[in-house]
Amino acid sequence: ILCLTAVAAIGLSAGAAMAQCDEGETVIKFSHVTNTDKHPKGIAATLLAERVNTEMNGKACMEVFPNSTLYDDNKVLEAMLQGDVQLAAPSLSKFEKFTKQFRIFDLPFMFKDINAVEAFQASDAGQAMLDSMQRRGLQGLAYWHNGMKQMSANKPLLLPTDAQGLKFRVQSSDVLAAQMEALGGTPQAMAFSEVYGALQQGVVDGQENTWSNIYGKKFFEVQDGITETNHGIIDYLLVTSVDWLDSLDPAVRDQFLTIVAEVTEARNKESTAVNAAAKQSVIDAGGVVRTLTPEQRAAWVKAMKPVWDKFADDVGADNIAAAQSANQ
Ligand code: LMR
Repeated sequence: ILCLTAVAAIGLSAGAAMAQCDEGETVIKFSHVTNTDKHPKGIAATLLAERVNTEMNGKACMEVFPNSTLYDDNKVLEAMLQGDVQLAAPSLSKFEKFTKQFRIFDLPFMFKDINAVEAFQASDAGQAMLDSMQRRGLQGLAYWHNGMKQMSANKPLLLPTDAQGLKFRVQSSDVLAAQMEALGGTPQAMAFSEVYGALQQGVVDGQENTWSNIYGKKFFEVQDGITETNHGIIDYLLVTSVDWLDSLDPAVRDQFLTIVAEVTEARNKESTAVNAAAKQSVIDAGGVVRTLTPEQRAAWVKAMKPVWDKFADDVGADNIAAAQSANQ
């Protein structure tokens, strides 16, 4: 194979970790939607490809397609079930068609930070969720972190009432739609790749996302400002198809899963720092960042938290209790 480092060295990279696969190598196509640089998922995907292409040379070969160049998140899981792509890492909000269990991750103010998310995912409840879609043909391999979500709009957002009457882009999640409705806003689901254009053209007024996504896709350029609400999280499921994983030679599968586990551990530790750097990059690029007083933040909690009641049955009281104990 021509591995990533060789491609980059001769200047052909174009942002994709493209490998030229040799005959006989298991081809692993990894499709995702974010930037490769300054982004927790982009960096992790690139590292995973580098390691597979180096350590499994002759056995396996990974090609990464970032920035929605192969599939949007709303298409990638279908493509995976058809065998057109072997790996993806959609946010946990994008599995609505496959399971309702992940709704816990979208409930506003459920987790106080990414460490709490990590603790919940490591619990029995969190680990069982990796296997929750096997019947539907999908196998979770690992959770990959992004970070806490912030709110932005075409006007300053300091109190939840500022969001009234605004149209917000959401990921395709009923919880996130309900959250925007709780604010008196109108949710509009759309693919990540369409958000910048929709904000620019006024198709939507605002959105919620992590610093690395707000910076990576330049949302701050087409918004009045970003309000540091930390009201929710974006985390990912590194996912593959049950059929593909079963089809692998056991030694190849073991080596691949070991590399996945090591990359996950190494990169998840860095996700908070990657987002902090992205926040600084937004500020350096002239983006407006607004912080909330404790009283203002309490008003957002009061406005959004009632959403929990609506989804308590889907999510399960035991899972909510486990998530809350992860906050301690
Ligand atoms: C979004 O659609 O806003 C995010 O899920 C994109 C991503 O993969 O971080």
